[in-house]
Amino acid sequence: MATSATSLAPKPAHVPPELVADFDIYNIPVGEEGPQAAWRTLRPGGPLAWSPRNGGHWIANSPESVFRFHRDHEHFTVAELVIPKMGQEYLMIPNQVDPPHHGEYRANILPLFTPDAVVRMGEDVRSLCIELIEEMKPRGTCEFVMDFAFRFPLGIFMRMMDLPDSDRMYLRRLVEGYTDSPDPERKTQSGIEMMEYIDRKIGERIENPGTDAISKITRFTIEGRPYTLAEMRATVWQLMVAGLDTVAGMVCFLAWHLATHPADADYIRSKIDDERAMQEVVQEFLRRYSIVSSSRMVVKDYTCDGVTLKQGEMIILPSAFFNLDESRPEAEKVDFARKNKKHITFGSGIHACAGALLAREEIRIFLEEWLTRLPQTRLDPERPPKLKAMPLNGAQELWLKW
Ligand code: HEM
Repeated sequence: MATSATSLAPKPAHVPPELVADFDIYNIPVGEEGPQAAWRTLRPGGPLAWSPRNGGHWIANSPESVFRFHRDHEHFTVAELVIPKMGQEYLMIPNQVDPPHHGEYRANILPLFTPDAVVRMGEDVRSLCIELIEEMKPRGTCEFVMDFAFRFPLGIFMRMMDLPDSDRMYLRRLVEGYTDSPDPERKTQSGIEMMEYIDRKIGERIENPGTDAISKITRFTIEGRPYTLAEMRATVWQLMVAGLDTVAGMVCFLAWHLATHPADADYIRSKIDDERAMQEVVQEFLRRYSIVSSSRMVVKDYTCDGVTLKQGEMIILPSAFFNLDESRPEAEKVDFARKNKKHITFGSGIHACAGALLAREEIRIFLEEWLTRLPQTRLDPERPPKLKAMPLNGAQELWLKW
């Protein structure tokens, strides 16, 4: 069925009319408090809602169900992970593999992100971060998304994969075409181009192996046999989707927050050498500024809170509904002393982010270098920020001055 965000899917007979909410996950208006708060503001009432947009799908509404459905492999599968459904052509391994096979696929990629591996990458992370900040410092202004966010974590990712920096923006555009567009045709076009690129790189690494992540993936085995080309492609694609947009979005939210909350910036500067305090700072930022809202497909009819979800239907699990749950005092406020900083920004359960350690390291190094090398930043009043609220929250434009 051709789907578009603007057309409304007919309500299936089993969906109670009172649960229908006109909620377009690719077009959520962002207010003063940013994308995560925008998601939360639109949260429909009741434990579940059904949106007729983007082919029609469920929305898990309560913080409890958002959390629980991430871990419920009996009723939900990761085989379909985006709305609208894209089939298995652009499969990601291990994110789109259910148990019991998931564990062995995941075990293969984890060595890429061990604490030792992250410490080794940390040197590169810091030197690139310093280089970019020092380059922009004399200008007194920057457009943070292009000048920093798309160069810093993405630059590290390109090094990890041993891909030329000149391909960075091309690859990012392809990932964005896949993740940020509700249009299946645009997704497919971006997917096809990406697969051609990945296949070329896999071929090069098989011919001429190195020590980079792609070379390692070409040597992975499963159940005692080498990966097929399709499995190698799905693993590289996974890292592209996971690594090219997420940390970039996160540092945009941090730069935006620091420019608009100078007292928080001062507090962090005063704690830069206090490892424990910095962990709390990173944890609270992760809670407040989630990036990903994952989806699942119903694997068999499931009656939950008196509502039946039918096999094959999609459901989105909005991370902001959990992280900014109203039962937390002033959930939208960044409060480094907050007791309950529990979050699902890195997901929850067996699919929890494999790159979380690297992401935390990049965030911490960014805070240290950004806050000690530059004076207090502020937003450019002439050019307001453009932030986006969708399944992958992020920023399109963020002009800063100092
Ligand atoms: C702030 C940055 C990041 C955020 C917010 C983030 C978030 C997430 C989330 C929410 C999931 C779970 C998705 C689901 O349950 O369907 C996930 C999975 C994953 N992430 Fe990240 N991620 C980040 C950075 C990274 C980086 C830098 C990498 C590696 C380059 C990475 C690699 C992965 C992988 C491989 C998985 C799949 C794990 C599995 O299925 O077992 N992530 N990430």
